[in-house]
Amino acid sequence: MNAAITGVGAYVPEDILTNDELSKMVDTSDEWIMTRIGIKTRHILKGEGQGTSVMGEGAVRELLEKTNTSADEVDALICATVTPDHQFPATANIISDKAGIRNAFSFDINAGCSGFLYSLEAGSKLISSGQYKKVVVVGADKMSSITDYTDRATCPIFGDAAGAVMLEPSEDENGIQDSMLQSDGVGRKHLHQKAGGSVKPASHETVDKREHFIYQEGQQVFKWAVSKMADVSVEMMKKHNIEAEDLDWLVPHQANMRIIEATAKRMGIKKEQVMINIQKYGNTTAATLPLCLYEWEKDLKPGNNIILATFGAGFTWGSMYLRWSYDGSKIK
Ligand code: UT7
Repeated sequence: MNAAITGVGAYVPEDILTNDELSKMVDTSDEWIMTRIGIKTRHILKGEGQGTSVMGEGAVRELLEKTNTSADEVDALICATVTPDHQFPATANIISDKAGIRNAFSFDINAGCSGFLYSLEAGSKLISSGQYKKVVVVGADKMSSITDYTDRATCPIFGDAAGAVMLEPSEDENGIQDSMLQSDGVGRKHLHQKAGGSVKPASHETVDKREHFIYQEGQQVFKWAVSKMADVSVEMMKKHNIEAEDLDWLVPHQANMRIIEATAKRMGIKKEQVMINIQKYGNTTAATLPLCLYEWEKDLKPGNNIILATFGAGFTWGSMYLRWSYDGSKIK
């Protein structure tokens, strides 16, 4: 039994941080950011006590409304995030509580920027087991909470957002067809958060050394991302005999416009076949893929061939091939 995505919701915080504003905070420019990364603006969640679950709740509430689902019908909720509200309990538990989901079990998945894809895989297997009928998969990150706004190498990249999809058993041959997921922990040295975990709990020293922020060796991550995301997407096309012109959409993780372009080039597809909104939102980590599906929902038709592709901290990467299940133009 295939699982199918039957609805999409999202939450994007109102406040916008522009390249011009960033240029007043660190030594950078709109020109550098646009040329090297391709981001114009990113949204930031502001306000005391506002964490990732606030955005997750917003996305889930919209999803339930759009899919006409009562909270009681949800069997499970999975939240992909690297910026949980707390070390524990899971942000998924908090989102479920806030959204009134009481008859479900919920848990978080941490797989860096690949978290949403990993969670979609986990959720789809819950559906295909036959035991669960409605699984909500959330990708949510408040990256501004771990971004160092004195570090010009990382602060232009990240933004805050959440997206959520409903998974249900597919009624036809559409839905999730296949996935290829991988990880390699050797990549951890190039992209991580140094303190705050069990290896180096928070202390005055870790705060003074600014070790609670994202640490990234950009060039290393870039090299890996370009090759792994493209390799796994090309492999998926070959495995399912998908010619470039047969692919309706590539939905790539939005980390850098140059990585997206390189992936599309390797797949032999045109830019018009690629969902790209990095210029508006930046890299929202676990939220990039559902946020793309949300923005393009109106254009999606049953049977559309879609490949999702991702790369992130871990390192983690993967691709998923799905055939879209409903007419997005009919959704209000
Ligand atoms: O989602 C998780 C996965 N993450 C990624 O996929 C990110 C992958 N990496 C990247 O996207 C890119 O490596 C970055 C966008 C992070 C950096 O771009 P880059 O083209 O690799 O730049 P670089 O780090 O090689 O730096 C080039 C130059 C350096 O100056 P020098 O040494 O050549 O004088 C940097 O100091 O650009 C400088 N630089 C900046 N200049 C202006 C670095 N950041 C900035 C900045 N503004 N914001």
